Amino acid sequence: MLKKGILIAIEGIDGAGKTTQIELLKNYYTKQNIRVAVFKEPSDSPYGKKIKELAINGRYKVSPKEEFLLFLNDRIYDCEKNIKPALNKKMLVFMDRYYFSSIAYQSARGLDKKMILKENEKIAVRPDLVIILDVAVKIGLSRIRHLRNESINLFEQEEYLEKVREIFLSMKASYVQIVDASRKKEEVFENLKNIINDIINPYLTHTQSKATEKTKTIENESEELIFESVES
Ligand code: TYD
Repeated sequence: MLKKGILIAIEGIDGAGKTTQIELLKNYYTKQNIRVAVFKEPSDSPYGKKIKELAINGRYKVSPKEEFLLFLNDRIYDCEKNIKPALNKKMLVFMDRYYFSSIAYQSARGLDKKMILKENEKIAVRPDLVIILDVAVKIGLSRIRHLRNESINLFEQEEYLEKVREIFLSMKASYVQIVDASRKKEEVFENLKNIINDIINPYLTHTQSKATEKTKTIENESEELIFESVES
């Protein structure tokens, strides 16, 4: 059991392995007697359904601004209907994409990163931890084609994803961690477990507490996310 709800967003380009890792994490923490909830964005709200339609056949029919608003409205729904209630029940909540995807994907279509961040912080709960699973675009796309046997949709064009990846990698804050996701899934999982245990340990109820002096506390309430471009 946890003393409070904890929100962890798993982010990264398509094919980075978010869904696979979240499934492993869910099973692992459930076995540790922690109540886990997983929510995926776009969600199943009417806005989310519209976004999924656009991914298949009409992305460029909507302007970047309209697309941004669809994701924002979908997120308002997800926060009110799913995320806040789960956090109030003191659950460990994993997000399979959250507003850091809006910053990366919608600013890669020309919108201002800071505007996207600001609008999202007005409506969404800030996560305790954001993990960006980082993988080269070519690897991500080949995972989608070969392992999932899926064709590439309109969000998954190579040149576009290069920009998206660069924006993800530019995000800097104490609560954002970048993890090399090109490794075997077991290795990535071990890495994620260590990072997440550090965040969770102080909030385990007394009997389970493994907190040590080294354990980090969450102090990100007023910290601002910044964007630092990576020199290439
Ligand atoms: P994705 O998680 O890839 O769905 P699936 O695995 O079911 O295909 O999400 C669909 C696309 O939506 C993905 O390419 C990224 C994009 N996206 C944004 O552009 N902005 C956002 O805010 C979110 C949450 C996703």
